[in-house]
Formats: sequence, structure tokens, C-alpha cells
Amino acid sequence: MSAPEFIHRFIPGTRPDTLLLLHGTGGDENDLIPLGESLLPGAAILSPRGKVLENAMPRFFRRIAEGLFDIEDVKLRAAELAAFVRHSAERYGFNASRLTAAGYSNGANIAAAVLLLHGPVFSRAVLFRAMVPLEPDTPPDLGDVRVFLGAGRQDPIVPPANTERLAALLQRSGADATLHWSSAGHNLTTGDLDAARKWLEQFPI
Ligand code: MLT
Repeated sequence: MSAPEFIHRFIPGTRPDTLLLLHGTGGDENDLIPLGESLLPGAAILSPRGKVLENAMPRFFRRIAEGLFDIEDVKLRAAELAAFVRHSAERYGFNASRLTAAGYSNGANIAAAVLLLHGPVFSRAVLFRAMVPLEPDTPPDLGDVRVFLGAGRQDPIVPPANTERLAALLQRSGADATLHWSSAGHNLTTGDLDAARKWLEQFPI
């Protein structure tokens, strides 16, 4: 079977690690490039566009309503994305063991789904405004994975308890999960980015 394809951008880097960028609903492969360049300057960038369309807005998996996810589609799309990442490492010659994912909202949720269903496809993840995408039947072994969760105290879309549940789920799977709260809503703030950048510097791959 050929590897699943995504519309994407790949930008070669000047250092040995690679950043996988995963946009939010209505975004595309270009959206998070400036964010990625400021989070991990000089890293190569792999930025796919979500394949699911909701009222013409790209996403990484289908949802039934706000916050209510189509679990079968989450599983299918997480498997496709994990295969695409592995295939891209061969195609572009980057080191898959030096991969950091950075996702916002729906992009953070698919990154969490990849970790929970497929284990350490990336060894670090920066998840902004993430929710529990699904509860895996078998907990993965995320012993070597570090996750930064950037959450907004006043987020009207992601209830704080849901992010706390995701942090606990990742921790129970062995990941080192750091939960960082901003006094913010669903949109990102410079405080979120500064905290994520510091965390990345503190835990280099
Ligand atoms: C979104 O708007 O993308 C939601 O907050 C998250 C999701 O549906 O995955």
C-alpha cells in the first residue's frame, strides 16, 4: 500500500531537528510557518494540510459538533498522519527520532491522537489549546516523550478540566507532560509562545 499523501510544505533546516506543524480548523499548511520559525529557529519544517473539510475549512479529522469528535475518523486520520510523517522522513531525509510536533487546536488534537494511538512518532510535542481526542483502548508507551500543553484559562472551546484530563492521560502513558496556563481564551498569546519556546530550550532533543 502506498503511503497516504497530504498537501504539505517541507522547508529544509539548518539544524538536525524537524518541526511538524499542525494547523487549526480553517488553517492550512502555510499558517503556522512563522510560529514554527519562531519556536525552533533553523529547524526543518514539515507542514501538512488537514484533509477533512468542514464548510470548506480544512481540519485533521471529522467532528460531529463542537468538542464532539468522530472517533472512527480520528483513528483513521491519526494512522494516515503517522504514516505520512514516517514516509516524509524517508522522502526528505530527516531524522524521525529528532521530531517535535507543534499543533494548535484541531492540530494539537490530532497530534495528541497520534501519540495516544501510535506511540512516540515524535519525541516532543507542543500542544496549544488541546482536548482529549479519544481514550485509547490500550495505553501507549510514551516513556521518552515530553509534551507541553498550552491552555487558556478563559478558553470558551476547551474546558480546563478537559485539558487536565489530557495531561493526566499522557502522564499515565509515561509521557512527561507540562501543563501551562495562560490568562487567555482560545487564541494564542505571546505569553503562550514565550512559555513554549522556554520549554523547548529547557528540553532539547
Ligand atoms: C476546533 O475548533 O478545531 C476545536 O477547538 C478543536 C477540534 O475540533 O479538534
